[in-house]
Amino acid sequence: MPQISKIAIMTSGGDSPGMNAAIRAVVRTGIYNGLDVFGISRGYEGMIDGQIEPMHSHSVSNIIQRGGTILKTARSKRFLTYEGRLQAYQNLMDQKIDALVAIGGNGTFTGASIFDKEFNFPVIGLPGTIDNDLYGTDATIGYDTAVNTVVEAADKIRDTANSHERLFFLEVMGRDAGFIALRSGIACGAEFILVPETTTYIDNFARLLRHDWRRNKTSGIVVVAEGEEEGGAYEIARKVKERIPELDTRVTVLGHVQRGGAPSAYDRVLASTLGHVAVRGLLEGERGSMAGIVDKKVVYTPFDKAIKHHKDINKEMLEMSRILAL
Ligand code: F6P
Repeated sequence: MPQISKIAIMTSGGDSPGMNAAIRAVVRTGIYNGLDVFGISRGYEGMIDGQIEPMHSHSVSNIIQRGGTILKTARSKRFLTYEGRLQAYQNLMDQKIDALVAIGGNGTFTGASIFDKEFNFPVIGLPGTIDNDLYGTDATIGYDTAVNTVVEAADKIRDTANSHERLFFLEVMGRDAGFIALRSGIACGAEFILVPETTTYIDNFARLLRHDWRRNKTSGIVVVAEGEEEGGAYEIARKVKERIPELDTRVTVLGHVQRGGAPSAYDRVLASTLGHVAVRGLLEGERGSMAGIVDKKVVYTPFDKAIKHHKDINKEMLEMSRILAL
């Protein structure tokens, strides 16, 4: 088992609420275990540029409640090249760093997996993305907060939709996955939830809408995941309007508001727990994997599996949402 005395932590890819709570947990658990802890700014970009600074217990004071990431984050093209990764490795060696905790999503773990194998350098990942699209954890850090943000917005939209008797198309984040759409859609009582995991047949969808309106509906919300195959909310609204011109439709794209804000209690506890276990995992020889929680138990999933193995959306909940919106 490698002797570990210095570790580094970084956040990478799209930020998510709770990343700061995870940083705090890694730094303090590291210090508790007698380790020197370093913070890398701007993800892999900072690793390549040598932006690596020591962190102390007070470096992470008063951040558990803050959204964003104090270490900043980036999506790095240079880390996709061998030259970039070699430079990053040399910078870590210069500081005598033995292991890394990387908080991020798919892109982060793809890089981490290559780096771990290429330079025999231990890396543990923490799932930090609002999309919840990683296999090996029931929830990713930031997902719960993002869903709550969507629900708060949807409730407000519901008021005005109802007053004006309009159908709203509400686009939420989720490039390749409909987890945010499904959960927030159920929580706000959406009439329809459109996700990339299922095919939307526009004619069929328009027929159902027409039927609902003939029966009793005068207003509603369709939650659309941004990765939905038929196009985003604007495109779907346009296609529906073509088929049902009498519907008064509006579109709201929530965008990056979903990525910010104070993390929920759930995300703070998840991030704190995973940050804590990541350090313990490294000390016990765990590496090349993502720490997650499945059925209330901590599990480590190899990076390749966490990224490639598809986490399925719960189709029964999708069906349930339709029944409850009748
Ligand atoms: O991966 C998280 C995510 O928020 C996706 O849902 C979204 O498609 C993407 O990041 C947006 O990325 P950027 O902030 O680079 O525009």
